[in-house]
Amino acid sequence: MKKKWWHSKTAYQIYPKSFRDSNGDGIGDLRGIIEKLDYLKELGVGIVWISPVYQSPFVDQGYDISDYYAIDPAFGTMEDMDELLREAKKREIAIVMDLVVNHCSDQHEWFQQAVKDPFGPYGAYFYIREGRDGRPPCNWRSYFGGSVWEKLPGYDNLFYLHMFAKEQPDLNWENPLVRQEIYKMIRWWLEKGIAGFRLDAIINIKKDLRFLDFPADREDGLCAGTAMLAYAEGVTEFLQEMKREAFAPYDAFTIGELFDFRPQELERYIGEGGCFSSIFDFTPHLLGASENGWYDRKNVSMDEFRDAVSVSKALSQEIGMMANILENHDEPRGASRYLPKEGQNERGKKLLAGISLMTFGLPFLYQGQEIGMTNKQFRSIEEVNDISTLDEYQTALDHGLTKAEALQAVAEMSRDNARTPMQWNRRIHGGFTTGTPWLTVNENYREINVEEQEGRKDSVLSFYKALIALRTDPDYGETVVYGKQEPVLEELQNFTGFYRKGKEKTLLILANVCGEKRCVETGDVVKRIVLNNCEAVPCREAVEASDRSSRIWMEGYQFLVLEV
Ligand code: GLC
Ligand code: CA
Repeated sequence: MKKKWWHSKTAYQIYPKSFRDSNGDGIGDLRGIIEKLDYLKELGVGIVWISPVYQSPFVDQGYDISDYYAIDPAFGTMEDMDELLREAKKREIAIVMDLVVNHCSDQHEWFQQAVKDPFGPYGAYFYIREGRDGRPPCNWRSYFGGSVWEKLPGYDNLFYLHMFAKEQPDLNWENPLVRQEIYKMIRWWLEKGIAGFRLDAIINIKKDLRFLDFPADREDGLCAGTAMLAYAEGVTEFLQEMKREAFAPYDAFTIGELFDFRPQELERYIGEGGCFSSIFDFTPHLLGASENGWYDRKNVSMDEFRDAVSVSKALSQEIGMMANILENHDEPRGASRYLPKEGQNERGKKLLAGISLMTFGLPFLYQGQEIGMTNKQFRSIEEVNDISTLDEYQTALDHGLTKAEALQAVAEMSRDNARTPMQWNRRIHGGFTTGTPWLTVNENYREINVEEQEGRKDSVLSFYKALIALRTDPDYGETVVYGKQEPVLEELQNFTGFYRKGKEKTLLILANVCGEKRCVETGDVVKRIVLNNCEAVPCREAVEASDRSSRIWMEGYQFLVLEV
């Protein structure tokens, strides 16, 4: 694998609305991010991805952009953005923005013009099609529920396509003018000095243009819009053109949000000469999903997590470097989702962090993960803001669940779990704002917050710092970044084990994912304990007492990185 500047970095996602509010209006902003750059530097972060800060009506929290060249006033001004770029640069932090170009907002000038004149030049910026006697052209369901087709205001039988909310019309990538507009905008931002982009919902830019009905997959008679992706050929041609015309001249770092791609095509995406620098590895996050909706989702065990990651790494690590996440702004908190209940404490959270950050790939932390923030307790659906949760709640009700059952079923998956304000300290609203936060803070902010953990050597935060530092450690960095990953002790239950085999060193990663003490044996001679999440070091005693033999006693939820 050709070495790249970003391989040894740790990336961090900021959800700006909930990160830090600098002016007391209850909404996080760019100046809030500037305030916290030193914190990120101290944590060891080298790349920051900021979810959309462009002008937006916020139907989907900024993922509906009405002007790609403007900062939304809720977040600040373009001067603030420029200052953020300067300040980040001083601290050697690369800034990555969100590129949302599968769709824009229905308030965008292009769409407004298209509504005025659907047969004119801007009509061709979107997918506008005739319906079937006033009914949608085909039966695809949008990601947020209901048909992907919406009637064009003022017309009885003209519809426009939206894979997401109806306020997010899909841009017609088949139109070269649209593509050129997008590339121009990308170059404009790169010219400003950002390092690259995270590419939102990017596989959706290529459609199956036949717009045919598929067999219904739910009682609503619709079929998931994503079904068309199996027949949409040629997305990589668009992506290669975008790379050539917009990214390559700036050597931009690009990371794709890609679901539903064909595994055999991975090389085209992240191989040498591939479309992107990297893509997120969502393998564990897709486990347990059901066609029926969130209410029908299965819980995922850590062993299933382990096996899924292991398959994914075997497939990808010779090809390129994918990015590992435990959570993001679309997923619940990893600690609440993957750890068994009894392990949802500091030791367990460190174990989860260790597994994730020692796995081959570029680590992407999501704000608050580094202090072990957890899911929120939702008492009523009124507390939910997220458009996707509201849709899933309705789906559960339609299926016959009671209100209480529906709430319980969707609460655990709600995107708002990750969107509650960042917990900085134990003061009101967790120190996020002096005003009223747009989304209420998680009640546990007095126990779980940055200030408390900064002062403590054995905190989750300190453990993250140690893990992050390992990527650039003179002794172990090469192994942690490039070492080949191979599973070990796969037959054990409630256990995760793997090697990272580097040029000169081999690390053995062991995680005892249960409350009981146990003894494991790999046949390796332990040279050094590199990381350990337990106060006591039973392992070292065991290792020494048994003359550095391979038998290792592990406490419940103990996590170890050993040099062997
Ligand atoms: C991506 C974003 C998500 C958004 C969707 C539509 O999946 O991560 O937050 O709702 O795209 O833009
Ligand atoms: Ca603010």
